Amino acid sequence: MAARTPIIAGNWKMHRDHLEAIQLVQKLAYHLEEDDYEGQEVVLCPPFVSLRSVQTILQSDRLPMQLGAQTCYDQDEGAFTGEISVPMLERLDVTYVLAGHSERRELFGETDEVVNAKTAAIQRHGLRPIVCVGESLEQREAGQAVEVVTEQLRGSLAGIDVSDPEALVVAYEPVWAIGTGRTATPDDAQEMCAAVRAELRSLYGEDTATGMRVQYGGSVKPGNIRALMAEADIDGALVGGASLSSEDFALIVGHRR
Ligand code: PGA
Repeated sequence: MAARTPIIAGNWKMHRDHLEAIQLVQKLAYHLEEDDYEGQEVVLCPPFVSLRSVQTILQSDRLPMQLGAQTCYDQDEGAFTGEISVPMLERLDVTYVLAGHSERRELFGETDEVVNAKTAAIQRHGLRPIVCVGESLEQREAGQAVEVVTEQLRGSLAGIDVSDPEALVVAYEPVWAIGTGRTATPDDAQEMCAAVRAELRSLYGEDTATGMRVQYGGSVKPGNIRALMAEADIDGALVGGASLSSEDFALIVGHRR
């Protein structure tokens, strides 16, 4: 079994307009060295309105980073005011799409069923879902973290086949660590990512689960990336706040230097 390719993704959330997006990518590229891209995937997830400008700059400057979207709709076309379909993202060379980020679940009412439908749509068009799961502080304190995350996985991945293990990524993001500056300790993050993989094993079998990437997300910074990436079941990071700083995100991507 080939080693899993680490995957570091920047989730810009609702930050940066399309002009600022270009600047951010240019500065990031300036701080990165060729070796930083070797043997790992780097993904940028700007807001929808900046996808086109980021696509253009990645292409024109031949930057080996992939484009990601923060969400999508599960239908391909139709009277769905305000929504964006996977085929539209595909036309912009988007490779990865987040499904069920905790902010979507919490603020926009996305249930496991909704996340499941989106995941299926992303896969149907050959794009790669990054399925996000994670427990709240209350659930963690009640000792329910593994149970909650396992259930989210089962619901979000119901009926989803995985033939290429690298084509579906799971991001474990404890809600209490997102944007709070409170990171899970590497041990806690490892324990939860191992639990995610155990569930993937029961869904997809040993070989597939061994090949699937599990990211950690929640206050990932230049100062904690190395310890997190050293853990056996952590194959990458989903980075929010720190991905808005070209210096910080370059240090995170370049953590092997
Ligand atoms: P954060 O966000 O790095 O700002 O905590 C992570 C995320 O929401 O993906």
